[in-house]
Amino acid sequence: MAKNPVAADSVPRHVAIVMDGNGRWARKRFMPRGVGHKAGVDSLLKVVQAATDRGIAYLTVFAFSSENWKRPEEEVSGLMSLLLVALSKYLTKMKADGVRIRIVGDLANVSDKVRHALLDAQASTVDNSRLVLTVAFNYGGRWDIVQAAKQALLAGVSAEQLDEATLSSYMAMSYAPDPDLFIRTGGEVRLSNFLLWQSAYAELYFTDCLWPDFDDKELDKAVASFTRRERRFGDVGASGEGEGAIGDGGENHGSRTQA
Ligand code: IPE
Ligand code: IPE
Ligand code: MG
Repeated sequence: MAKNPVAADSVPRHVAIVMDGNGRWARKRFMPRGVGHKAGVDSLLKVVQAATDRGIAYLTVFAFSSENWKRPEEEVSGLMSLLLVALSKYLTKMKADGVRIRIVGDLANVSDKVRHALLDAQASTVDNSRLVLTVAFNYGGRWDIVQAAKQALLAGVSAEQLDEATLSSYMAMSYAPDPDLFIRTGGEVRLSNFLLWQSAYAELYFTDCLWPDFDDKELDKAVASFTRRERRFGDVGASGEGEGAIGDGGENHGSRTQA
């Protein structure tokens, strides 16, 4: 018999965030978009601290997508410089706070300087384990699925051997459990190619809050919404137990309120 689905845990183990809305945050203040990105870095630092304090084990953030190269050259180079500045400024604190940094994405096409900085941040925090902060950089969910398939082929995995667990083992985030809570700030209600494979059963949370305004209180709101969800993973809901027939009230699967 199938295991009873249970209420979501009080603290999600893995939180993934699409940090969106920096540009609009700056525009509201009549400032260039880069100012919004800078404020976004400050926001990220606060959220890393808040996630650590709350016992979240994995925090994964979308920093630059495979598609963000479409932006004006000036904005792209500004984002690259900001990344270098942020790493040199905050890496020591992250190290001291027990944060392990991991990078996922296609680093083959980023500049040597950026690649080295990212890989150095990863290497220098390898012994930390309090919070795993994954920075998705030049990442796309479709890229991830294709690179996993390529690796599986290169490793000689046959069509008969290929199953979900095997392909998962080649995905960029094979070291982490799937995200429990997927947050997107900035008001858009889409995934924008983030963690497509891994988020199959993530609880989605969309907020109008622009990323530079997102703080520990906003994180608590998202987590509170998560704890009210009933995760069913395709099974019947807890309130559906023992209620056999369609139309006998079985549609009452408890609260799915989205905050
Ligand atoms: C997200 O903020 C940051 C990155 C994509 C790097 P945006 O720059 O997309 O901000 P909006 O969506 O234009 O407000
Ligand atoms: C998603 O935001 C990428 C990151 C936050 C890094 P975008 O602003 O690029 O997404 P779209 O273009 O609105 O879908
Ligand atoms: Mg955006």
